[in-house]
Amino acid sequence: MISSIGVIGAGAMGRGIAQLFASAGRQVLLFDQNTEVLEQALTFNRQLLERSQAKGRLSEDELQAVLSRMQPVSSLDELADCDLLIEAVVERLEVKQALFLELEDKVPADTILASNTSSLSVTRIASACRHPERVAGFHFFNPVPLMKLVEVVRGERTDPQVIVRLVELAEQAGHFPAITPDTPGFLVNHAGRAYATEAQRLLVEGIATPQQIDRILRDGPGFPMGPFELADLTGLDISHAVMESIFEQHYQDPRYSPSNLAAQRVAAGLFGRKSGEGYYRYEQGKALREMEIAVPRVALERPFWLDCADPALRARLRQLLQAAGVQLEEGHEPSVSAICLVTPLGEDASSCIQRLGLPAQSTLAVETLCDFDKRRVLMRQPALDPAVLAQARWALGHDGVPVEVINDSPGFVTQRVIASVVNLGCEIAQRRIADPYTLERAIPLALGYPLGPLGFGEHYGAARILRILQNMQGCYGNEPRYRPSPWLRRRVQLGLPLTTAEE
Ligand code: NAI
Repeated sequence: MISSIGVIGAGAMGRGIAQLFASAGRQVLLFDQNTEVLEQALTFNRQLLERSQAKGRLSEDELQAVLSRMQPVSSLDELADCDLLIEAVVERLEVKQALFLELEDKVPADTILASNTSSLSVTRIASACRHPERVAGFHFFNPVPLMKLVEVVRGERTDPQVIVRLVELAEQAGHFPAITPDTPGFLVNHAGRAYATEAQRLLVEGIATPQQIDRILRDGPGFPMGPFELADLTGLDISHAVMESIFEQHYQDPRYSPSNLAAQRVAAGLFGRKSGEGYYRYEQGKALREMEIAVPRVALERPFWLDCADPALRARLRQLLQAAGVQLEEGHEPSVSAICLVTPLGEDASSCIQRLGLPAQSTLAVETLCDFDKRRVLMRQPALDPAVLAQARWALGHDGVPVEVINDSPGFVTQRVIASVVNLGCEIAQRRIADPYTLERAIPLALGYPLGPLGFGEHYGAARILRILQNMQGCYGNEPRYRPSPWLRRRVQLGLPLTTAEE
């Protein structure tokens, strides 16, 4: 059993790791080259624990016991007897390599050396060591005691027994250990790419504003934060650098391509919350959100005609339109005066209009991957008559539920972001970066998504997701960015759930 742990680096992560394991009954020795930071870390942890005690989550005796298990040390030599050493120093390969090499001189051959790196290759860090088999990644999330996930990263030469011991330790501390091989972004930062990069792409193409995209993704699929709020919170300088790094590490696979607009915003210092301005402006730490304007009332002079193959969705849309007092046409083809509503999957409105032979001036699209009670989305196209848009907007928003109007896009906002998240999750499963169980537990824990990527696929229907991707790929001239993962395609072809594992 691992009973004594040395933590090197007492910054945001090191102090959290120390607190976690001291609370889990381990003896923790904490070191930082900066003694001031070390003192601050211990004070910070003591205050956190005292607050827990004040709230009744910890007794006085437990508080004292945890504090006594967390001790500062003033040199690396004092860590010699630890079973495990975890480094949480600055994110630089040569610093981490030099540190591990120095530690190897001080500790027995079976001491585990773990790195909390979030973006460096564990295999590369280990390559500087005399015993690379004792090195693994142990990647926590901030704040460590609250984020109940840790990635246990298997370097190319890591001894499987090291992984077993780290997994056991994580579980005993109440964290879910996600075992993952040493691949770019490991599991979580890899899976999280789809949400960020597809949202950026929507912006680049002028499809909707950041605030619209955030609102649509919060109110539809139920993400706790929109991608632009999230970028502002993380800092665009950090998240854009992660996007660039993962793109490069995948040898420029277009699936991960970062955004040129984001690069410019980083150059301009528009990092987000920490710089006072990002996709939102901040006053006293609070984001200023634009007021949503109520849908203007207009006379509904023309009948509506609806193209929707899904009977349940069709019934829901009919009900909404009828409640607005709209006259609905029932024929297979619209009359010349009709306003046509189409419900494409992965196709833009223009392509759908051409395929169905509808009049472009009076046709627009409605998003069906949404929660109709919270927010509705209409998609216009360049030939649309503004008077038609105004009527459609009022017809869908007459009951006070907000209606977003976005520009023509293969897959609106939600379809393309969800399809990208599902597709990347499938690819991660396909590449054995995580088994379905690990993936589905890790992503909601780390990213706060209401479902894992495969769960989203099941929720919206795997066949529908596949169709969205295929149509998007078609609309974008066979762009490889949207190529469906074989994992997704095979399970749809075989009628299996997306969570079906394979050998
Ligand atoms: P930080 O800057 O808050 O703390 C790093 C600490 O390491 C500093 O106190 C510094 O004095 C100390 N340090 C630097 N070189 C040292 C050395 N050679 N020996 C001893 N101490 C040294 O950084 P943070 O945010 O805690 O990150 C630490 C590591 O954790 C990095 O590898 C980072 O990528 C990773 N990480 C960070 C996350 C975050 O949200 N901040 C999340 C997950 C991983």
